[in-house]
Amino acid sequence: MKTIGIIGAMDEEITVLKEKIDVVTAKNVIGLDFYIGMFNGNSIVFVRSGIGKVNAAVCAQVLADHFAVDYIINVGVAGAVSPELNVGDVVISKDTVQHDMDTSAFGDPLGEIPRMAESYFKADDELVKLALSAAEEICGAEKVFFGRVASGDQFISDKDKKKKLWSTFGAYCTEMEGAAIAHASWLNKIPFVIIRSISDNADNEADMKYEEFVEIAAKNSGEIVYKLLEQI
Ligand code: ADE
Repeated sequence: MKTIGIIGAMDEEITVLKEKIDVVTAKNVIGLDFYIGMFNGNSIVFVRSGIGKVNAAVCAQVLADHFAVDYIINVGVAGAVSPELNVGDVVISKDTVQHDMDTSAFGDPLGEIPRMAESYFKADDELVKLALSAAEEICGAEKVFFGRVASGDQFISDKDKKKKLWSTFGAYCTEMEGAAIAHASWLNKIPFVIIRSISDNADNEADMKYEEFVEIAAKNSGEIVYKLLEQI
């Protein structure tokens, strides 16, 4: 039996799990509600972290310290960065970058975390394989992409910023938590994967598209995680 921690930033992103996993107990730590249940022979702990990198990293640390999780899965929505992506597509993380990490004044490349061995945290091969297969089953292979997730404390709704994320980092999608969860997971030596469903194109209409598609995209990513949990 493994213990699997699942983080969504917002309520919409954990709704499917709330509906489908029988919660046995819940525990509140630092104001966050951690829901605990059993599924497919594994212990599942899922939680809404709140939005942004600090909330996400702290939440991942609580999963490590209080729940001794073996794996961490981050589920939710994202803006499309790669020109080949559209609303309704899915990105499974290859690795992550914190796109707002900037010590270029000292000559460092954008995204590099100064004085750390790693800046681009790589997702776990086995979790990636399971996530890809679950996503393909739910959405069809043509909608599923494997690539870099760029996170920052910014909602990207600007076509020039979006282009920069593509040209600087080769990011496939952008959101506000994944790289922080990856960072915390790496520090704790916990394998992780990020599963993100595209809710908008991170361009000048992103806010409107997001409002329209956030719920359906969040549900989609939740269904993928549920399918993954059936196979793990
Ligand atoms: N989450 C969903 N869409 C996003 C965007 N455009 N920027 C940042 N986070 C997002």
